[in-house]
Amino acid sequence: MSGFTADWLALREPCDIAARPAILADALRGALDAARAHAPQQPLRVLDLGCGTGSNLRFLSSRIPQHQHWTLVDHDPLLLEHAAATAGDAHNVGAWTTLRADLATDLGSLPWQGTQLVTASALLDLVSRAWVDELADQCATAAAAMLFALSYDGRTRCSPGLADDAWVTEQVNQHQRLDKGFGPALGPEATDHAQRAFEARGYLTGRTRSDWILETRDTLPLQAELVRGWATAAREIAAPQRTRVDAWEEARLQAIARGVSRIIVGHEDLWGCPR
Ligand SMILES: C[S@@+](CC[C@H](N)C(=O)[O-])C[C@H]1O[C@@H](n2cnc3c(N)ncnc32)[C@H](O)[C@@H]1O
Repeated sequence: MSGFTADWLALREPCDIAARPAILADALRGALDAARAHAPQQPLRVLDLGCGTGSNLRFLSSRIPQHQHWTLVDHDPLLLEHAAATAGDAHNVGAWTTLRADLATDLGSLPWQGTQLVTASALLDLVSRAWVDELADQCATAAAAMLFALSYDGRTRCSPGLADDAWVTEQVNQHQRLDKGFGPALGPEATDHAQRAFEARGYLTGRTRSDWILETRDTLPLQAELVRGWATAAREIAAPQRTRVDAWEEARLQAIARGVSRIIVGHEDLWGCPR
């Protein structure tokens, strides 16, 4: 159903948590105070788009002081089952519901009314310009605060360095812009475009880096999956040069197997609230 398996999401979750910035808690509280001015006593209503197994809820719920009601949206029923199995354990979450929906087509029919925080993690780089514009329209109409975490921004750094690292990243970044079900994807431009879209609708916004820094032994399995994924993407874009990609992949995987590999992947978090 989805290209994102529960195993992949579990592999990345500890690195996502380590990457998400501490500054966020304060920024988010400010944004939420503004968005909740009209209903300060009610539980905070949160809409999580592309929730996967619920990683964003697990991270955010304990960092938001208010009691919360979450709606977890995804098109993948298996991922929603995982999310449902653990959402009740989360700190400060009084109620939650899962909603199976195709965000590419059903954005307008989500429960916007009364939503005070719209959030997503690792989603924005998959979607199109037009989709972000519609998202910003819906958020502005609901006067909701927003937080879009862990959007890939096109930067990678691998060590030990290989001659073809930058070339492979160029192919990967081209692949990032292919259609992921929402029209041509924003890929590395996701945070820039979303920030402009929300500011054009009167939002105050802030952004900060949330890079993966993969250097400890426990990140080696994620590094290996990442390298395999990048190589597959690069072979799709540069099909005539597949042997060049194969050689790069083999050298990277050897460095990982020797335990000497370090990989940084650039991400950004964007948040904001209506003025
Ligand atoms: C990279 S994963 C991130 C999952 C989760 N937010 C996290 O941080 O672990 C992207 C998520 O978006 C969901 N997704 C992708 N396209 C979708 C669509 N058209 N409608 C609904 N969900 C979608 C996938 O099923 C997946 O759970």
